Amino acid sequence: MTQERDTLISAEENREMFDRIAKNYDVANHAISMGMDKGWRQKTIALLCPFRGGRYLDIGTGTGDLVFEILNQSRNVLIDGIDPAEQMLAVARNKAATLGVGDAVSFLTADALDLPMESKTFDGIVSGFCFRNIEQRQKALGEMLRVLKPGGKLVILEATYPASPFVRLGYRIYTPLVPLMGKILGGGAAYKYLVDSIEDFPKPKAVMEMFNEAGFTEIACKSLTFGTVSIFSGVRPAAD
Ligand SMILES: C[S@@+](CC[C@H](N)C(=O)[O-])C[C@H]1O[C@@H](n2cnc3c(N)ncnc32)[C@H](O)[C@@H]1O
Repeated sequence: MTQERDTLISAEENREMFDRIAKNYDVANHAISMGMDKGWRQKTIALLCPFRGGRYLDIGTGTGDLVFEILNQSRNVLIDGIDPAEQMLAVARNKAATLGVGDAVSFLTADALDLPMESKTFDGIVSGFCFRNIEQRQKALGEMLRVLKPGGKLVILEATYPASPFVRLGYRIYTPLVPLMGKILGGGAAYKYLVDSIEDFPKPKAVMEMFNEAGFTEIACKSLTFGTVSIFSGVRPAAD
């Protein structure tokens, strides 16, 4: 029997897609978000609230920008960035070498559904624009809870389909341009998938219910840029 998946494409197709677009990922990201991605990442890490001496995990780290933002906002932290796409990790490692932050950061090939870390390892977990791509999202939340220390925080940044009809109108005018930009930047079908997968992704309320089902407390959702982006957060209960 085949396992039902939450995503439009398989994990293997996903990995191949990100490996294919890795080289131009950062440029495309800044272009498609009209430069707003930097601010979204800053707000995400501000919500994570990394502290000196803390240990952090970035799931679906890609080219590593959330890892580097943790380092911007806090000193003396240790961060693991994991991703199944080797080419994305290669870009992240190059950036870490250029920044000279090699001691603080490890980029590892791994999947959110089977984290190669001991339980109760991390003070905080962050994940940006990755959750939408995970085949079994509820299972992934269970893994995230497992590797968080009691009292540790999970913060997920994700693109969401706007709820307001007015914003949807603007969104529908803008999104056909996204695959076009992707084509120019050599991404082809990846950017059509981006638009389709955002429309297919559960509404914020349903994502918060998934956090609750996984066992998180203090669950919240912060809506950014007219609801086109959301930051979900939750805490592993302190007493368990
Ligand atoms: C859109 S990119 C986001 C990269 C980065 N977090 C950022 O903010 O730019 C999504 C990343 O999630 C990774 N990814 C997809 N499925 C994953 C999974 N099951 N486990 C871990 N990472 C995954 C992809 O390989 C890709 O690098």
